[in-house]
This record gives sequence, structure tokens and C-alpha cells, in this order.
Amino acid sequence: MVIAIDGPSAAGKGTLARRLAAHFRLPHLDTGLLYRAVGLGAEKSGRPAGEVATDLQPTDLADPDLRTDQAGQAASKVAALPEVRVNLLNFQKKFAAQASGAVLDGRDIGTVICPDAPVKLFVTASPEARAERRYQELRERGVDTIKPRVLAEMAERDRRDSERAAAPLRAAPDAFLLDTSDMDADAAFAAALAFIERKGFRSSGP
Ligand code: CDP
Repeated sequence: MVIAIDGPSAAGKGTLARRLAAHFRLPHLDTGLLYRAVGLGAEKSGRPAGEVATDLQPTDLADPDLRTDQAGQAASKVAALPEVRVNLLNFQKKFAAQASGAVLDGRDIGTVICPDAPVKLFVTASPEARAERRYQELRERGVDTIKPRVLAEMAERDRRDSERAAAPLRAAPDAFLLDTSDMDADAAFAAALAFIERKGFRSSGP
């Protein structure tokens, strides 16, 4: 089984993806990390982003700086470059094709990477709810910021991700839309699981 999860930033994709992966015992790929590593790698080394994308190493994905908003902005800039997306395509497709199945989350999983995935979720929430979550997350990490700034940066990234020509952020026509504005992580997981079980998929575990 392949579970494809897409949606804008701070909508709750990552948490949901991790919980579904644990529940169904599937490997999980946070594809945003790939773009973050390319964005940050290009910024740090001065090399062209397309080139950085061709020789990305697993250790590049462990850099704690990838979690910063600076990396998020750098990611969304390089993510608009077709040469970057093409160079990351095979790795993602291979991950999804593992015999075990997989959970992938990102922006174009249901539309480009896994258009045949039997389960597609498009996770969204109001800009205010997402900005509030991102703000709390940053505060917990000790980052000093203010809400209007978080909201403005998120809006800028959403715009860039939705308006780009290469694999823009879109819900696949067959995706289940999950608006988590008024849901906590448990409620979002329960709603996603109910949808997946309605499709006939169950965890084989206890
Ligand atoms: O954690 P958050 O949702 O804020 O961001 P992310 O998933 O780590 O993605 C960072 C950036 O990478 C996004 O703003 C997109 O521009 C880009 N991205 C993409 O283009 N395609 C993907 N499959 C995943 C991320």
C-alpha cells in the first residue's frame, strides 16, 4: 500500500504521515527534507541547485539546520526549478515502489510521484491555524519570532509553491480532503484512518 500525503506547510502532514506509517508499519519519506537539503546545500556551497540534487547523500538529510524557516524558504525556491525536481524524482519513485509499500508526504506525491497511489490525502488548514501551529513549533524550539512574521513567510511560501509551473501544490482529483483547522493530531489521525479503512485497508498488526 502506498499512502500519498500532500498539503501546504504546517497543515499537519508530517505528524499524520508518521502516525500512519507507524500504524501500518510502512517506511516513511518526508520529501520536504530533500528540497530543504538541496536549498540549504546550494546556499552553503554556492553550487547550482540542480547539481546538489544529483549527489544528495543520506547524511545531508540529518542536518538539524534543515528544520529552520530559512531552509524552508530556500527549499521552496529551489523546488520551483525543473532540474531539481527531475533529479529528485527517481529516488522518491524508488522509495514508493518498495515491496513493503510506503508513506510519502510532500506537495506533489499524489499528482506526480505516485499518481496511482491507492490512498491519497490532501491535508490542509486555514492560514491562521497553520501559522499558529508553526509559531508554537518555533517557540518550542527556542526561536524568537512574532506571529505576523510567521504568517507572512508562510503566505509567501504557499504562493510560490502553488503558482510555480513545475509540479505546483494541488490536490489530486481523487484525494481525500482533510481540513485540520479544528482538529488536533489525534482527530486528524482518526479521520484519515477511517477513510483508509473505508477503502478496505487494515493494519495487519495487533
Ligand atoms: O514542513 P513544511 O510543510 O513547512 O515544508 P516541507 O514539507 O519541509 O517543504 C519545504 C518546501 O519544499 C516546500 O515549501 C516546497 O516548496 C518544497 N517541496 C516540494 O516542492 N515538493 C515536495 N514534494 C516537498 C516539498
